[in-house]
Order: sequence, then structure tokens, then C-alpha cells
Amino acid sequence: MSSGATGTAREAVVVRAPAKMNVHLGVGPLRADGFHGLATVYFAVSLHDTVTARPGEGLSLRLSGEGTGTASGPGQVPSDRTNLVWRAAELLAESAGVRPDADLEVAKNIPVAGGLAGGSADAAATLVALDVLWGTRAGREDLLRLAAQLGSDVPFGLVGGVALGTGRGEHVSPVLAAGRWHWVLGMAGEGLSTPAVYGELDRLRAEGRVPDVTGPTPPDPVLAALRAGTAAELAAALSNDMQPAALNLRPDLRRALRAAEDAGALAALVSGSGPTVAALAPDEQGAVRLAAELAGAGVFRTVRAVTGPVPGAHVVP
Ligand code: C5P
Repeated sequence: MSSGATGTAREAVVVRAPAKMNVHLGVGPLRADGFHGLATVYFAVSLHDTVTARPGEGLSLRLSGEGTGTASGPGQVPSDRTNLVWRAAELLAESAGVRPDADLEVAKNIPVAGGLAGGSADAAATLVALDVLWGTRAGREDLLRLAAQLGSDVPFGLVGGVALGTGRGEHVSPVLAAGRWHWVLGMAGEGLSTPAVYGELDRLRAEGRVPDVTGPTPPDPVLAALRAGTAAELAAALSNDMQPAALNLRPDLRRALRAAEDAGALAALVSGSGPTVAALAPDEQGAVRLAAELAGAGVFRTVRAVTGPVPGAHVVP
């Protein structure tokens, strides 16, 4: 996560920001602060946005890629100070006591509102990029603290790999994973709002339509499967408490999950709050075949074969 750079960089700093999935997402009851206690296992994959920071006067932000708008119309992602990237820049500047001068560019590849924490990854990458550009030399703990202020998933964006997330997801600790796994990510239809999916889960639990809980489901089976390293074991251990809520809001996702399993996935689940579907393939070739099959199945708008775990936000040399 650290750049290792000395002094202030005068040139562009380019940082790669990987998408995440949750191979386990245990969600506890709604807390008094409006968040849910989590026991989650984050998993970073080889689908990434790229954040570029250049010297500038004041802050400016340009976005490119799907979902970011065109000359003829606005996109789903704001490019003003309400963007998490902008807030990350202001937060780091304030904390380091420097002027927030930078020209920021985000090339988006991670689907927007897809349950892959693209916005959080961009914010984490911005902290890393500006730490180098401004020579602020923030320590790992400082960056993690700032990341947690930006959002529950942002600290994992710094850490990457595979990590256990607790609290509201902001406390992350690396997890031993003895393997490399191959996935196909399928994006179907419009994005889902994370708070809306949490709200739906609370409603389903209150109505007794899914079992109520006193705390998040423990991640032990997934942790054991990650240590064992086989795709079959991981497939059997995948779990997501948010899935019934995402399926209730988007019933078409049932068909997408079935299509993935019919096409040869060892298992398929909704990624985070959805609507991205993550299908685990037996191996790399299997993922290529699965991606081809799913691309032709007509249930997904976009299909991507990815692998992981991959490192968190890091400077591209
Ligand atoms: O932390 P973040 O800003 O990404 O959270 C967005 C929203 O998602 C929160 O306002 C809350 O409604 C919901 N959330 C939650 N429990 C979590 C994380 C997020 O209810 N652990």
C-alpha cells in the first residue's frame, strides 16, 4: 500500500484500484448508528479502475468509462466534491496540512453501483496517489483511519488481497489464502443502491421472511476453505446474507444465478449488495469457457473473467 517514494512527485502518479467481492458477507442487526455489524471476507479481483493524480491548482476531477456520463448527458457518478475521490483528496490534504492542489482523473472499468466497491476502490487509490504526489508520507495507520472516515469498504481498498472485515466493515485484517481462484463476474441490468439493499434485508428479517439474527454469521467455513485452496471447497463455503434482499429487489437475478450454475460454475452468488453475480470457475480455462457461455446466455449486460486475490491500491511504475 505504501509507495516508498520520497519527496513530492512532479509527474503523474498512476494507481491501480481493484474491485472487491465478498466471499462471505455476514450481516448483523441494524445498529443505533445506522450501520450493520459485519463479519465479511473481502476478496480483491483483477478488474480495476485507474486513478491518475497530476500537479494542479485547486482540485479538479475527470471521469471516463461506463456510467460516468458523456458530452450529451450526465452519468451516474458525480465529478464534483460529492464524489468520494474528491472527498478523499480534501480529507488527506486537511489531515496532512497541505493545500488540496491536484488534477485527478479516474478511468472507470468497475461497474458503477454493482456491489464491487468501485467508488471505495477509487477513494483508496486517491489516498495512495496523493500521498505520493504531495509527499505527505502518511503512515499505513493514518491512511487506514482516513479511509474508514470515507466509507466502510475503503480501508479494504488499501489492503487488498483477502481480508476479514469487522465492525461496519472498516476494520480489516489480512487472511491467509493458499491459492488463486478464477471467477466470472456478470452484470445484469441497472445498479442497486447499497442502503436500499440493507433496508430490504432489515424488512425481510422484521417480517420473518428470512431468519432474524443477533449477530453476523461467522466466516469460519470460508476461512478454512481459503486455507485449503481448492475451488470446490471455496464453492461450498461461499455465503452472502445480503443475497435474499438483492434477489427480492431484483428477481431477475435468480435467473442470472441459475444461468451461471447451468453454464458450469462451481457456485454463483450475488457480490456484496449486488447486482453483480460472481460465478466461481474450477480453473482458469474453465473461467474462459464460463465467460464465453454466459456472454451468449443473454442474461448479463457485461461478463468479465477475473482472477484473485490481487493486491490493494498500488502505484503503477
Ligand atoms: O460506509 P458506506 O458509506 O459505504 O455505507 C453506505 C450505507 O450503507 C450506509 O449509510 C448504511 O446505510 C449502509 N451500510 C450499513 N452497514 C454497513 C455498511 C453500510 O448499513 N456495515
